[in-house]
Order: sequence, then structure tokens, then C-alpha cells
Amino acid sequence: MSKNVISKLPVMLHGADYNPEQWLDMPEILERDIELMKKAGVNCVSVGIFSWVSLEPEEGVYTFDWLENVINRLYVNGIYTVLATPTGAKPSWMAKKYPEILRVESNRVRNLQGGRHNHCYTSPVYREKTRLINTELAKRFANHPAVILWHVSNEIQGECHCELCQAEFRKWLKKKYRTLDNLNKQWWTCFWSHTYTDWEEIESPAPHGEPCIHGLNLDWKRFCTEQTVDFYKEEIKPLKEANPDIPATINMMAYYDGIDYWKFAEVLDIISWDSYPMWHNGGTDDSGGAIWNAFWHDAMRSMKQQPFLLMENTPSTANWCGVSRHKRPGMNLLTAIQAIAHGSNSCQYFQWRQSRGSVEKFHSAVVGHNGSDKSRIFLEICKTGDALRKLDGVLTADVNAQVAIIYDVENKWAVEDSKGPRNEGMGYTDQILQTYGSFWKQGIPVDVINMDADLEKYRLVCVPMPYMLRGDFAARLKKYVEKGGTAVVTYFCGMVNENDLCYLGETPAEGISDMLGVVFEDIDGLYDYQRNHVVFDSESGLEGEYETSKLCEIVTVKTAEVLGKYKEDFYAGYPAFTVNNYGKGKAYYQATVMNGEFSDKFYKKLCGELRIRRSLETDLPQGVTAGRRMTENGTEYIFIENFVNETREIDLPYPLYDIISGKTISGRTVLEPYAAMVCK
Ligand code: GLA
Ligand code: ZN
Repeated sequence: MSKNVISKLPVMLHGADYNPEQWLDMPEILERDIELMKKAGVNCVSVGIFSWVSLEPEEGVYTFDWLENVINRLYVNGIYTVLATPTGAKPSWMAKKYPEILRVESNRVRNLQGGRHNHCYTSPVYREKTRLINTELAKRFANHPAVILWHVSNEIQGECHCELCQAEFRKWLKKKYRTLDNLNKQWWTCFWSHTYTDWEEIESPAPHGEPCIHGLNLDWKRFCTEQTVDFYKEEIKPLKEANPDIPATINMMAYYDGIDYWKFAEVLDIISWDSYPMWHNGGTDDSGGAIWNAFWHDAMRSMKQQPFLLMENTPSTANWCGVSRHKRPGMNLLTAIQAIAHGSNSCQYFQWRQSRGSVEKFHSAVVGHNGSDKSRIFLEICKTGDALRKLDGVLTADVNAQVAIIYDVENKWAVEDSKGPRNEGMGYTDQILQTYGSFWKQGIPVDVINMDADLEKYRLVCVPMPYMLRGDFAARLKKYVEKGGTAVVTYFCGMVNENDLCYLGETPAEGISDMLGVVFEDIDGLYDYQRNHVVFDSESGLEGEYETSKLCEIVTVKTAEVLGKYKEDFYAGYPAFTVNNYGKGKAYYQATVMNGEFSDKFYKKLCGELRIRRSLETDLPQGVTAGRRMTENGTEYIFIENFVNETREIDLPYPLYDIISGKTISGRTVLEPYAAMVCK
């Protein structure tokens, strides 16, 4: 049972990034903002993101009065503050005086001042400047009644290749490998005569230097992740010292894999993220974007196994896309409800008010340049605000998924750096999203976990492309199946260890081949336009012929039962889909990239056999899904979402009360285009 993640304000949060510092010379705008926030049902705003120069215009001179006035004015009007540390972008005076804080790119060129996320995470100067400003901020605001959450930096990301970072990297490597001889072995550096004879010879990967050592590439990303986590830990010290009870978060870009966000889970109090799917980039059907978005929501919830916050999404368009397409009418409420269905306790926007100049002046905001409260976007936000007010009961309700999909960032790094069998896209995320989509279409909740997570509580664990076996994952997976669990494992499995060295001998390694009852022989890469087919006979219960593409693995059977075989090419007749009894459980192996039709059919059948609960016991029409959250005392919330710009009909198994519309629905029910319901 989840406690409320924001104990100081136990309501469904509705708010936005707010930049009052841009309007300090127009006080009437700030007053109008409050009036409009109340109209839109906004109960919190994120303030101070990127405000460093307004807070410290000269070195050591702190000007916080404007911020305090803003926070106070908001507070007396019932609006709480998510207070940001300003470290996502630094003032120009600082960059000029301390060039060491400027980031160095992998080409070893030091950036000029500008943009954001343009600092070094190692630089002692930047760390000290961060400590000082955060100490002052915390002194003034950590015990302010309006402050509910620390928003640390903004979308923490990127890497720096400066000399300070290189030196730290070498230290990190020494600690990990102890001897250079060991490092050389683990990285297989003898290849092309790349053996290191002095620690000082080691440099981070570079396009004009060393991009070839896979172990180095992996360790560099691991180091950058740890260095960023370490920076975060330093950054929150003064905040926590001033008041340990205010939780802290970073707003993640879940899909960004430059660093492994999962390594933050332990040090964050709350997970939050910024969701920017490309809505409406096709015809009337938005289920592709909905599946993508739902997947990352689930990943955010699963990271700490507790409700998360949707920290940013656009009120209508994002202006950094190739094309700025507006959310269609109803879409804003639908995306808010979608987030909540997957475990969010908020719907927050970027941004409250459009800036007058600079690069985001045409990014959508709740309030546009005309300042109107009659604009279509503003009214959509009001509608969402009205709905969220009715959903406080959902805050402590859990999703309790019975299915897990493994998405592992370190494995993804290795898969994408494998060099063959397909440098034109190994499709790791595609495979995962296809699998995920098959559950979404049935309205089955899924946890998205990495290789470190516990498997025991799931009825079904899907393991797409576990190419790199790290930690004790293989042992835990085998134990899980042995004790009665079901696993579906795909091609490109168990080939390298955590340093990206190929296993010698039988693969999938570490006994996974015993669990699967198959042995890997080879893998064929197919060009995008090439196809093979897999034929399933009637006994398999999946009778038919399904198209397959991209990667076809050739495996031989030890103990598995063959369900489907390749139809064409020199491996015609070889197993392509198998199942093996292992201990009390079962392990399926999918040796090739199957199409969506197969995936949907297979998982529907399997979920039926495993009696995995759907959120709503009915077959959902195309583009419609259902979600579920349940409180400890058994109150169940069912979320119904139509991601198609057309009406759809569903058969409800029992009458439901829609909290948003206040109506009871039953039997055959029409869903309007982009309909969103939250039912009890
Ligand atoms: C990100 C950032 C915001 C803003 C938005 C625009 O999510 O965190 O500051 O730039 O993108 O979509
Ligand atoms: Zn650096």
C-alpha cells in the first residue's frame, strides 16, 4: 500500500512550470497569473527552474525577495510551490570567471557559455557554487509552509569529457579493476594493439579517438551515471540538512539513455518525469503514442514501486518537434487520466505562461501571449482541473501488476553497441514496445523493471533481448521459473557478460539455455525489406503462419517443445518458437522478431492460461485500453481510455460509476473520441 508521496499536500496535483522572474517588471501579469491559476484548478507550480541569474546576479549576492513574494502570494491563494534548484543552467558571469565549469564534448572541444545542461558534473567549482546557492535557498525556503517538494536541477543529462572528468574516470577504473592487467583483459584491449601500459593513457570514448572498445564504452556510461548521481547527492545535502521532510525529485526523460536513470531510484524520494509523445502524427488512431507513453509511465512507477509525478507535459504542442501539432480536443484530459491510471499522482505542464522571447516562445502554455482565459487551450486545462479535483481518492491506490517486462539500460547500451548482426537497428526498444502493446490492448497492467529488480511477485516475466547478463540476473530468472514462474525470453539472449565479453561455449550462457531447453547456433540479420515466416501447427494453439523480420536466430533443441518453425531459407524447419518445462515453471523462447499480430494472439492466449487479471473483464476494441488502481481497503478505480479520434463501443461486464461525469454506465457503452473515464 502506498503512502501519499506528497504528504504535505494530499491532493491530485495540477500545475505547471512557472517563470515569474521573466515578468517582475509587470506586476499586473503576476497578479493575473494567480487569478488564472485559480480558474484552471492549479494547486501547485514549479518555480525557480533556470532562475540562477535572478537569484544570484553577481557572485555571492543573493536576491531572493522576489521569489519569496511570489511564493507567499501564491500560498495565500491556495497554490503550493515545487521549488527548483537552479543548477540546470548557469549564469554567464560564472562561466566567464570559472571556465572549468563549462562542459567539454566528446570531441574534446570546450563549449562556450549558452544553452543549458552545459556544465561539468565533476568540477569542484560548480559543485561549490551549487552548494552555496542551495544552502541559501534551503535556509530561506525549506521550512516555508508552501514548499512541498524540491525539483532538483532540470532533466539532468549529458556527459563531460574535460580533464577533471578524465582524472575521475581513471580513479573510478582503478577502483573497479585494481590492476591495469585486469582492465586490459576485461576490455580485450589486445585487439588492434590497444593495450594500455599506463593508467594515464586511458581516455573516455571519442569519435576521433577510441570508440572501439566495448568495455570502455560501457564503463564510461556507467561512470557518467555514477558521477551524475554523486552530483545529485551533493546537491541535496544542504536541502536535506535544512529540512529532511521535504521530498526531492529530478524530472527525468525516461526514454533518454545517455545515463541510466534507474540508478537514481534509491537516492530520490519521488520519481517524476516529463512526457512528450508525438501525438497525432498519423491518422485518427493514437494508440502507438499511447503505448509508448504508457510504457514510460509504468517504468516510472516501477522504479520505486510507488506512485510517481507527471512533472511536465505540454498543454497542447511542443515547439521542438519537426511539426508542432496541437493536442486534439479532449486529449489533454485523456493524457492526464492516462498518467494517473499508470500511477501518477499529478498532471503538470510545461509551461504556465508563454515566454515573450527566446527559444520556447511558441511552445504551448496554459496561458498564451494574449493572456486569455477564453482560449481553447485554457479551457481544456480548466476541464482537466475540474476532473482532477474529483480524484484525490486515487492517490494511495496501487497498480499491483502481475506481469513484468525487463527493460535494462545497461543491456540496451550493449545491444546497441554490439556491431552486428544489424547495425541498422537492433530494435531493442521496438521489441519491448511490441510486447508491452500486447498487454496494453488487453488492459493488463505491467511493471517495467530492470535486471536488478525482484521477480518473485509476478505471474509472467517477459525478457526481450537479454543479450548482456549482468549481476545475478540469470540465477534469479532461473530460480523464478524453477519455482513455478513463466518467462518469455527472446532472441539475442545471454551472449555477453557485463564487460561485453562473449561467453565461450554454450549460449544462452549461465544456464539460461538449460532453462529454455535450446542452444544458440547463429543469428541471421535481415534487411528491412526482407521477411521470413514462422509456421505454427494446430497443436500449438497458435495455428497459422506469421511474418518475421530483422533478426532470425538459428537454435537447436535440447529439451524444449517446438511450437513454431521457420518456413524459408537455409534454416527452414528449424525451431523459431519453443516452450520448455523447467522445475515447476515454463520458459518460452522466441528466436526471431515476430509480427504484432502474433504477439497479440500469443499473449492473449498466455494471459488466459495464467489467469492474469485484466483491468476490465471484457474484450477491448482497437485503440481502447483500461487501467486499474486499488486501495488497501479494496476500493478499485477503473480507467477507460479511448485513444482514437472516433467513437468506440465496449461491453461493460458490470455497471460502473464514472467519477468524472457523475454518471453510471452499464452494458454496451459508447465512448466518445478521446474519451477518458475514471470509474468506481
Ligand atoms: C523539457 C524541459 C522544459 C522545456 C520542455 C519543452 O521537458 O524540461 O524546460 O524545455 O522540455 O518541451
Ligand atoms: Zn568535466
